[in-house]
Amino acid sequence: MQDIYIAGTGIWYPEDIITNDEIVSSFNSYVDKFNDKNQEMIKAGTLEPLAHSSTEFIEKASGIKTRHVIDKKNILDIEKMMPSVQHEDASKLSIHAIVGIEAARKAMISANVEATDIDAVILGTSHAARNYPSVAIEIQNELGIDGYAYDMLVGCSSTTFAINNAFSDISSGLADTILVINPEISTPFVNYTKRDIHFIFGDGCVATIISKNKTSDNCYKIIDRKLITKFSNNIRSDWSYFVRAAEDEKAFDDLLFYQNGNSVFKEVCPMVAEFISSQLHRKNIQPNEISKFWLHQANSRMINLIVSKVIGSDDFDSSLAPLPIEKFGNLASAGSMFAFNLYNDLKPGEKGLICSFGAGYSVCSIVVQKA
Ligand SMILES: CC(C)(COP(=O)(O)OP(=O)(O)OC[C@H]1O[C@@H](n2cnc3c(N)ncnc32)[C@H](O)[C@@H]1OP(=O)(O)O)[C@@H](O)C(=O)NCCC(=O)NCCS
Repeated sequence: MQDIYIAGTGIWYPEDIITNDEIVSSFNSYVDKFNDKNQEMIKAGTLEPLAHSSTEFIEKASGIKTRHVIDKKNILDIEKMMPSVQHEDASKLSIHAIVGIEAARKAMISANVEATDIDAVILGTSHAARNYPSVAIEIQNELGIDGYAYDMLVGCSSTTFAINNAFSDISSGLADTILVINPEISTPFVNYTKRDIHFIFGDGCVATIISKNKTSDNCYKIIDRKLITKFSNNIRSDWSYFVRAAEDEKAFDDLLFYQNGNSVFKEVCPMVAEFISSQLHRKNIQPNEISKFWLHQANSRMINLIVSKVIGSDDFDSSLAPLPIEKFGNLASAGSMFAFNLYNDLKPGEKGLICSFGAGYSVCSIVVQKA
């Protein structure tokens, strides 16, 4: 079969950084104001008071220390608690296209390819910027790429599923080189008044060049892919084009991202560990042959638990499973390839494993070998 490579990657992230102390201080001020405003009902027992958040909880429960966001000021402002953004329209590039192009240009330099070498653009994201035209086609146009382009949505597995599609198109002969772009501008969709989720997300974008040619000296051959989906309502958003016409009223806040994080944790960890173990077994690869696990960056405890189940020990060097989540927060589908971009220091012949897991549930695991 044709060899196919990850030939280069590029990342974009915003300059604004929010620390845990800052997000907790903003949240707690909101809570104090809410409880003060509603003190009569709270005293009467008809309303539950809101509880404070804490830096200690966030670091212990998630591993997150900071997150990069598109608009720190308005997220922390308790009168707003969301980033300030504009409607997208035909007069300007969409935000997904702007950040996607930045990451794409870096990926093209790292892979040593020009726009004329690229045959297709696949954009995968958790939150579509609009319905149509595809942002991928907008980026294709801006970069001067021929061929085809489309957007796809698979929650937190959008990046790996898009890489998988690129691989399939190349192996079927449809294309030689494909640009995969994954913008994850999640903060407009976060309800910063909810204690269990206000600290989780950051904004970022990753781009990846998949090619049948070894275009750079930092290529990783894709040696196996495995995908699974299993329906769950534990990570859900009901925002849709039905919002305008729906006759049953729902508040905007009820349509945003929500999750039952504890159930996700308990269900997804064993599922992913078993999934990866059976993939390695099928490929006759011993777990200790994997030099790096670039896993979905939702929770550092999840990452460490999954790796320890796969290798059969919780005594491993932290460099085995990088944790960019500490600095960037949860970057939705971009997390695993962010980790790959920042920590791809394998020697020729060494193997690594990229794995996403998230809404759907959806899981995709890709085994690579440094060329
Ligand atoms: C979200 C997550 C960090 C929460 O951690 P957790 O350990 O499961 O926390 P729980 O929800 O069980 O809450 C534990 C306790 O902390 C409290 N708590 C929740 N948020 C808190 C906060 N911000 N500050 C302080 N305490 C908090 C809860 O009220 C609960 O208290 P109790 O034990 O008295 O009832 C974790 O479940 C997670 O990351 N899950 C996976 C999410 C995921 O992969 N999502 C995919 C989307 S991309």
